[in-house]
Amino acid sequence: MSGRLQGRTALVTGSTGGIGVAVARALAAEGAFVVVSGRDAGRGEEVVRSIAGAGGQAAFVAADLSKGAHAVEALAASALAAAGGRLDILVNNAAMLLTPTPTAEVPEDTIDAALATSVKSMFLLTGLLAPRMAARGGGAVVNLGSINGLVGMAHSALYSMTKAAVHSLTKSWSAEYGPYGVRVNTLAPGPTLTEKVKGYKEHLEPILARAPSRRASAPEEIAAAAVFLASDDAANVHGATLTVDGGFSAV
Ligand SMILES: NC(=O)c1ccc[n+]([C@@H]2O[C@H](COP(=O)([O-])OP(=O)(O)OC[C@H]3O[C@@H](n4cnc5c(N)ncnc54)[C@H](OP(=O)(O)O)[C@@H]3O)[C@@H](O)[C@H]2O)c1
Repeated sequence: MSGRLQGRTALVTGSTGGIGVAVARALAAEGAFVVVSGRDAGRGEEVVRSIAGAGGQAAFVAADLSKGAHAVEALAASALAAAGGRLDILVNNAAMLLTPTPTAEVPEDTIDAALATSVKSMFLLTGLLAPRMAARGGGAVVNLGSINGLVGMAHSALYSMTKAAVHSLTKSWSAEYGPYGVRVNTLAPGPTLTEKVKGYKEHLEPILARAPSRRASAPEEIAAAAVFLASDDAANVHGATLTVDGGFSAV
């Protein structure tokens, strides 16, 4: 690793499991102080220990992002305090993954929970942290989108709606914060082999059969792209969608 994020501070939402863990570890391996967050304190502390064990620096802040503005404000305040009053990088990664379900069978409370967790919390958190970055003259926001935000898939309307919203927010925030030095980009993975996604094998096979690479990504491959977007290597990359999907969405 080359210390590309030495002296920077980062908050990664949803970094107690899945892709977020790999992103937190990769940012820390490049020298960033990382605030790990999620609902599960046990898994969060374990991620912090693994980062410290690898020579990095991190702290855990618990947050349930389905709980609205108060929970998001508390996360922003605690994350800023843990990071010494300044956050340079925000990775909006937390989301509700949803089992493919016909639209007509999706319960209303699932729609509300998915929008609250995957869209509203990101909207509120970025509204709290991006202006602080802008006031200091710079920062990077990486929003986790998905190929579902780009391509229609049967029985995935709700999840795809949340991810399409993320793709749209990246563009709006690029226009709003970019002139003040805050770069906002979307990282759009295709199927990525977290423990949870390994259980969706039958849903993945038709997607992977169409992807030029014919395989899913490892979480570390998504994390490498997140490091790129967060780092000065992407200094003039604003409002982009970086797909890491084995080419699925291109063909
Ligand atoms: N894996 C894929 O194949 C794939 C593909 C395309 C896009 N993505 C996107 O990549 C991101 C990460 O996905 P993933 O597969 O790593 O998901 P995951 O394994 O389900 O992990 C989700 C993370 O979000 C946290 N989280 C969930 N609900 C939360 C809540 N209410 N409040 C706070 N934190 C919450 C979880 O932590 P706690 O349980 O501790 O709260 C966990 O750390 C998501 O934005 C997803 O849409 C994933």
